[in-house]
Amino acid sequence: MADKMDMYYFSPTGGTKKVSSIFAAALGRDVVWHNLGSKQTISGKPQGELAVVAAPVFGGRIPSVVREKIKKLDGKGKKAVTIAVYGNRAYEDALLELNDILIESGFTVIASAAFVAQHSIVPEVGAGRPDFEDEKEIRAFAEAVQRSTAAENVHVPGNHPYKPEMNVAVTPISLPSCMACGVCEKVCPTAAIAQEDGKMVTDAEKCILCMACITACPQQARVLPPPLLQKTENMLAAFKTVRNKNEVFF
Ligand SMILES: Cc1cc2nc3c(=O)[nH]c(=O)nc-3n(C[C@H](O)[C@H](O)[C@H](O)COP(=O)(O)O)c2cc1C
Repeated sequence: MADKMDMYYFSPTGGTKKVSSIFAAALGRDVVWHNLGSKQTISGKPQGELAVVAAPVFGGRIPSVVREKIKKLDGKGKKAVTIAVYGNRAYEDALLELNDILIESGFTVIASAAFVAQHSIVPEVGAGRPDFEDEKEIRAFAEAVQRSTAAENVHVPGNHPYKPEMNVAVTPISLPSCMACGVCEKVCPTAAIAQEDGKMVTDAEKCILCMACITACPQQARVLPPPLLQKTENMLAAFKTVRNKNEVFF
């Protein structure tokens, strides 16, 4: 395989980027990074012979912003590797959805993996992951990809039709301590946030609840509405004490 690799990633709170960086370093190729969370247009032509797509799992699916952007890639004659990064609950149809889109775009998906990272809404779930043990497994996956001579699409778990997409009609809110500095607007991948009359206003139609604005706010003035946070914490309580596994597929 040639030495260049395109890494397409979406990482609103840094977990997916961390997994991608460990993987890329272990693969030892020149990496061209493509941030799918950026508002800039991404070229449809991968530069290398191998493309890697890494996405966080949202409600057992991949975020819509990832779906829309990777659909436009031209994979003809290229190999791909997919990585779903999930918050210690479950990845359900996310990996299958990623692979279906890339195969449809002409890629041969030679390997896939689901790795755990800290849950971006409830950080006590999967706390501190990817940790030392995870790093070893991510590196082992990269080394196996490097050695792979596969030329067929890999089979991954998941169901058709996919789980219905998460549909939460609420958005993060800005607290009175918000100084309308505009950082949230800048980092929002879907252009859901705008400044109106000195206040940050969020469009619920566009918001995908990715947590990028909450993580980036320098005043800690962006938060989830307390009832939503409480509901999510209750739903995930059982996952605070379990260690879910990483899985790889060749
Ligand atoms: C809206 C939303 C939905 C999520 N749904 C799931 C899920 O279905 N299963 C799961 O295990 N983790 C889920 N997570 C957790 C993320 O997949 C996990 O924290 C991931 O590492 C986030 O990636 P990032 O750190 O690159 O932003 C969800 C997070 C968000 C914000």
